[in-house]
Amino acid sequence: MDPTLIDWLNLSLRWMHLIAGISWIGASFYFVWLDSHLEPPDHSVAAKSMVEGELWMVHSGGFYQVERRKIGPGEMPEKLHWFKWEATFTWITGFLLLSLAYYMTRGVYLVDPSVASITPAQATITGLLTLAVCWLVYDFIFQSRFAASGKLATWLSLALLIALDYGLCHVFSGRGAYIHFGASLATIMVLNVWVRILPAQKQMIDATKEGRQPDFSLAANAKRRSMHNSYMTLPVLFMMISNHYPITYGSHLNWIVLILLVILGASVRHCMIAPAKEALWTLVPALATVLALFVLTRPQAPPSNVYEPSSGSVTALQAQTIMQRRCLRCHSSSPSDETFQAAPQGVMFDTPELIESYADRIKVMAVDSKTMPLANKTGMTDEERSMLGKWLDTVVAAEE
Ligand code: HEC
Repeated sequence: MDPTLIDWLNLSLRWMHLIAGISWIGASFYFVWLDSHLEPPDHSVAAKSMVEGELWMVHSGGFYQVERRKIGPGEMPEKLHWFKWEATFTWITGFLLLSLAYYMTRGVYLVDPSVASITPAQATITGLLTLAVCWLVYDFIFQSRFAASGKLATWLSLALLIALDYGLCHVFSGRGAYIHFGASLATIMVLNVWVRILPAQKQMIDATKEGRQPDFSLAANAKRRSMHNSYMTLPVLFMMISNHYPITYGSHLNWIVLILLVILGASVRHCMIAPAKEALWTLVPALATVLALFVLTRPQAPPSNVYEPSSGSVTALQAQTIMQRRCLRCHSSSPSDETFQAAPQGVMFDTPELIESYADRIKVMAVDSKTMPLANKTGMTDEERSMLGKWLDTVVAAEE
């Protein structure tokens, strides 16, 4: 496909994905907020007998009064607003974007030969299967006998989540693993909406329409799935932007970093939902994970025995030669790579000045982590990384 067309497709999909995602998550945050701020109604007023909670708000030049209520047989309003297309559209655009960026780019973002030697086709099939299997297993657990004991089902699914994280980080490249972890949770979230939450709502509506008393217990399962969705939201949002942070997925313990980020997101979410005082204790694991993340993602001391030049220092020419050999295939004004026909993110290393201006980022991407060269397509060796690191240190020191 034409590279310009691919870029525009990527841009359009990402833009739509963001808009749909903001609408979905925005509505869901809004309802969570509503639920936790509703005040008990005055039940001595007959008209309020079915009202469970109410509140007043002011926004953009108007006052709004909202009630949460039960509805009796035959009371179905003519027009009822549902919130289902936001989730669906977010998933569809997300899936197309995943396919375009990860499945149709010959594995450069998905496969890392130093993690596992699989072909791009095998990686794609594994990715697709992961999305499907995660939903099937999760749904099975929470529809089965395990679900009766909520705790058992929850612990079991948390253990499986860690197994998924570990497995993905040992099959895909770091960023491929993170995006598939996020996409698996997002698939569970959207199927929760379609397979468990909407049908429960529909049954209540049908009962009301037919003049039967709705069975409100049907809502219990839907409510539980919806609660799961709320805990997955913040971790998924992080996975969506994770590709910008090689400090996370590029870490040698990236699967631990990922699980800590999930704990962090879920703790913060708990704090947002639960009544203020009760939730304060979740700040403890949240703070502990922040600290652990900071320590874990510090650059490792470079393997000192890899490069010990007799002269002691690395010359600018040696460093430039390494960059020339390992990076310019993509990061150049005229790249020779078949996938990247324009310098990725506009980052070019054609001249010594350009290389020096990117010194910090080069260190992060190619020395502290092995995120670049992408998929190590140009076969950069550890010795070259350590040489480049030594030279970059002198450049950064001179700048300071
Ligand atoms: C096969 C192509 C390819 C090669 C070879 C390659 N890169 Fe990259 N590089 C990319 C792509 C693609 C991106 C954009 C990543 C993204 O979309 O998130 C990128 C982004 C970058 C960035 C900007 C991202 C940031 O967070 O700062 C830096 C810096 C970088 N590469 C450094 C290097 C260095 C140093 C080398 C050589 C050691 C190298 N790259 C080799 C493809 C390549």
